[in-house]
Amino acid sequence: MDSNKRPETMERITTAALANAFIDEQIAALKAQIGDKKVLLALSGGVDSSVVAALLIKAIGKQLVCVHVNHGLLRKGEPEQVIEVFRNQMDANLIYVDAVDRFLDKLAGVADPEQKRKIIGAEFIRVFEEEARKLDGIEFLAQGTIYPDILESDGVKAHHNVGGLPEDLQFELVEPVKLLFKDEVRVVGKALGLPDGMVYRQPFPGPGLGVRCLGAITRDRLEAVRESDAILREEFAKNGLEGKVWQYFTVVPDFKSVGIKDGKRTFAYPVILRAVNTKDAMTATVENVPFELLEHITQRITSEVENVNRVLFDITPKPSATIEWE
Ligand code: XMP
Repeated sequence: MDSNKRPETMERITTAALANAFIDEQIAALKAQIGDKKVLLALSGGVDSSVVAALLIKAIGKQLVCVHVNHGLLRKGEPEQVIEVFRNQMDANLIYVDAVDRFLDKLAGVADPEQKRKIIGAEFIRVFEEEARKLDGIEFLAQGTIYPDILESDGVKAHHNVGGLPEDLQFELVEPVKLLFKDEVRVVGKALGLPDGMVYRQPFPGPGLGVRCLGAITRDRLEAVRESDAILREEFAKNGLEGKVWQYFTVVPDFKSVGIKDGKRTFAYPVILRAVNTKDAMTATVENVPFELLEHITQRITSEVENVNRVLFDITPKPSATIEWE
């Protein structure tokens, strides 16, 4: 039987009871596969890797070594949440790697979007490889591959893919959720006790805020993206739009415009708001965000975020635009 093919008889996991049955089954299978060996996992804090981590912690506890790489392109509060949930609450073996300067140095002056993606992907693998080399006795590599990854891209996960490790670091793969669809992964995550903020979070690209800080990334604009994104998320949560809108974020372009603050002329960046709905990310429509809320968000961003004097709302569907700006 092809282990990468979902059996037609496999029931869709829609309830806590079904999720618990899946979890029990997987724990037994993971214990049988891994025995007393060690497993390495790149834990981004996204839904898939978080669910895989929680499953493995239940199955093999400290034999799992999680590596969380902070590449400086994560959203506000994300690294802290990974540490809080996995190290403090679940008592996981978690290695936190602060690679912020390293990534930003590599990205300095690079404006081409594909080049930026390549650098982020390659550097991620390099950091992960270095951490893997420091550890002894690892025999397995866990990955948050899910069924759409297998169906759509030959099993290669688009983000945080550590499949590019060198020959001598080819571990046996552990992929406990590879036959699940995203909604099932969420049900399992909930049953495993992961916080809602982690289980139901919106999609976030592997290169993170790097593709939302347009052109060559600078620290001031990256902070403007991160802070404005945090305000947008906070306001969407407060106003019942979290969980309703498929994806929403902010973008900071690499040009300035003239503004005025406290009677003085400013020359600062604009922030672009984006909020879209889609089923498969191939096409997307724009969320009809209430004008008063847009005004409130604008007021907050222009007063709370440094180096910003203007806010725009992108009302372009996909096509003709894409969801991200680069
Ligand atoms: P676009 O911009 O192509 O985005 O309409 C469609 C969906 O894909 C996400 N996206 C990415 N995800 N790595 C990822 O893991 C990437 O390089 C990347 N680029 C776009 C985007 O956020 C949206 O959900």
